[in-house]
Amino acid sequence: MIKSACLAAAVAFAATLGIWSLVGERADAHSGATGVVKERMELMSSLAEAMKAIKAGVTAKPDMQRDAIAAAAKQITAHADRIPSLFPKGSDKHPSEVRSEVWQSWQEFIKANDAMKTEAAKLAELAANADRRAVLGQFASTARSCGGCHKVFRQKKN
Ligand code: HEC
Repeated sequence: MIKSACLAAAVAFAATLGIWSLVGERADAHSGATGVVKERMELMSSLAEAMKAIKAGVTAKPDMQRDAIAAAAKQITAHADRIPSLFPKGSDKHPSEVRSEVWQSWQEFIKANDAMKTEAAKLAELAANADRRAVLGQFASTARSCGGCHKVFRQKKN
């Protein structure tokens, strides 16, 4: 009982951060995009898919799906390595939602990407043996790192 109450509280906490809406984003938002814009939108959609898989893994009953969480978190770290090359200077053609701040503040953009990679790597690590609350907390931190970049570098905010 205590355990499930604790999970419910943690899920409610995560919900207040708005992360469930991020996870549920539509994957077809990028229709009409071509070239590198399309490629990075697809990569971003994969990130959203990975977050969805992690959510399912963390909230699974009766136990977390630790391997699935770790695998999806590692996908995020691998995607992070590709992100800088998918934002060549000036690639802001419609329907891209990128903001020109990416190129004006490139170091900050890279920092935001590194932050996501660090949080996801920590999540993969915790998934091996930490308790559910800790894993959920780290999932929330990872979601916040997505939002941290979007807030500054993407027109649509979340
Ligand atoms: C370093 C910055 C950065 C990080 C970190 C980041 N994103 Fe993004 N994301 C962007 C930018 C910029 C766009 C807009 C790209 C465009 O429209 O050209 C975007 C777009 C998206 C989109 C919309 C894709 C589409 O089809 O239009 C989704 C979904 C998304 N991100 C999910 C995520 C998730 C989930 C995470 C974290 C696991 C994440 N992003 C981390 C910068 C980032």
